[in-house]
Amino acid sequence: MALTDEQVARLTDERFAHTRPDLARAPRVRRDQVPRGLRWPVLAQTAGLLRFRHRFVPYMHRRFGDVFTVWLIPGGRPLVMFTRPEHTREIFAGDPESFHAGKGNAILGPIMGEHSLLLQDGGEHKRARKLLMPAFNGAALRGYESLVTELARDEVARWTPGRTFAALDRMNALTLEVILRVVFGVTDERRLAELRPRVNRTVNISPAILLGWGWPRLQRFGPWKAQVDNQRELDRLMYAEIEQRRTAPDLASRTDVLSRLIRTQDAGDGLTDAELRDQLVTLLLAGHETTATALAWALFEIGRDPAQLARAREAALSGDDTWLEAVMKESMRLHPVIPMVVRTLMEPATIGGIDLPAGVTVGPSILLTHLRDDNHPDPGAFRPERFLEEHGNRVGPAANTWIPFGGGVRRCIGAGFSLMEGVAVLREVLAAYDVTAVGDDAPKVRNITSVPRYGARIRVGAS
Ligand code: HEM
Repeated sequence: MALTDEQVARLTDERFAHTRPDLARAPRVRRDQVPRGLRWPVLAQTAGLLRFRHRFVPYMHRRFGDVFTVWLIPGGRPLVMFTRPEHTREIFAGDPESFHAGKGNAILGPIMGEHSLLLQDGGEHKRARKLLMPAFNGAALRGYESLVTELARDEVARWTPGRTFAALDRMNALTLEVILRVVFGVTDERRLAELRPRVNRTVNISPAILLGWGWPRLQRFGPWKAQVDNQRELDRLMYAEIEQRRTAPDLASRTDVLSRLIRTQDAGDGLTDAELRDQLVTLLLAGHETTATALAWALFEIGRDPAQLARAREAALSGDDTWLEAVMKESMRLHPVIPMVVRTLMEPATIGGIDLPAGVTVGPSILLTHLRDDNHPDPGAFRPERFLEEHGNRVGPAANTWIPFGGGVRRCIGAGFSLMEGVAVLREVLAAYDVTAVGDDAPKVRNITSVPRYGARIRVGAS
């Protein structure tokens, strides 16, 4: 039965009414129980890790070596960072009942919802992952490709040769359209027009708004109120879309992610409307800007080097997707979109021979893993061929040295989707245009992700 607008509004309000779980109440960990770290105030270390990560994390590595601890707010909680592939392997292989990932994402609860794959752990996570997986397997991905290609072709056709623009802006617009059409499966133009501004506002969460979610009373004021109002409206639209889709006459033959999720059953038990909403918002937040950023860097790096451009254009025109995929992978290696992944230990564990107590958060640094020259020779160079080079019976970098999508049972469920999307978009851009990078660029922190500071400015020329 369809939910009324009042019922939907109540669901939204309930999500925002929860105060943040008090992480400070986790077991206290003493300094002598974890590897070495700074004696700076925890606020300064937190700011270093979150706001200045591109300088702070390499500094910690230089100062303390391959394993070190950063102390974080609230309450001085230790995060032990690892940088060696053999340690990363141990973390990714950790028992999911004890190595929790959802805890660290709890702050996103009001927006993603309690059922979100990103927020769950243990058995609940396993069930949700099983229900979502079929929508991201190889056959499903092949089903999405033609619509992604069509959307990319429309976008590229609107570009003006000779004009400089931020690749990130255009890639953000394009990957958002992909989420709306290919993931949500919305086709109705009126609903698309209603959804776009709501979705845009949802993904533009500033740190101030994020922190405000811990205090429900704040939500009666200013930007926090605007965010809750926006969520109510977005939820109303999404529940309406879910309701219509469940009864759509062509549901059985539809290929979008939402329709596939509605059809998926686990022992006769499918996803409820609330679960579908939460997973769709999760896919939106996890899959939109991440892929756009990787694409923007890829275009910028290709546009910086005429030899790379010639090679990539040849691949686009001859249908050599393997090369274009290597371009995407190298873009994610050189400019990791997400700097680290974390797991919180529910029980004591030993990693890299170091005994750690429960309550400690551990995680491989993606940034450092990708920049180590013993993992990737000449790590500062953009060399897609490293993903195609043979080393004995292995092709490309060794296991756990390229980890932009994390790993283990929590590995990014959209990894294949983003590579498929990246290749399709690069193919369309490069088949149509020459690309030239304009000026320089460097990574800048944007909430959880790192993006090009100047948006990866490029100019295209018709050929
Ligand atoms: C360049 C693009 C992307 C990057 C760099 C990226 C990166 C990541 C990372 C690092 C994680 C955490 C993995 C871990 O904890 O081990 C993750 C999880 C996740 N990603 Fe992605 N992602 C990308 C694209 C996407 C796309 C396109 C989607 C969906 C359409 C998506 C959906 C998710 C979801 C649902 C999770 C949670 C998985 C779980 O906890 O089981 N991501 N992603």
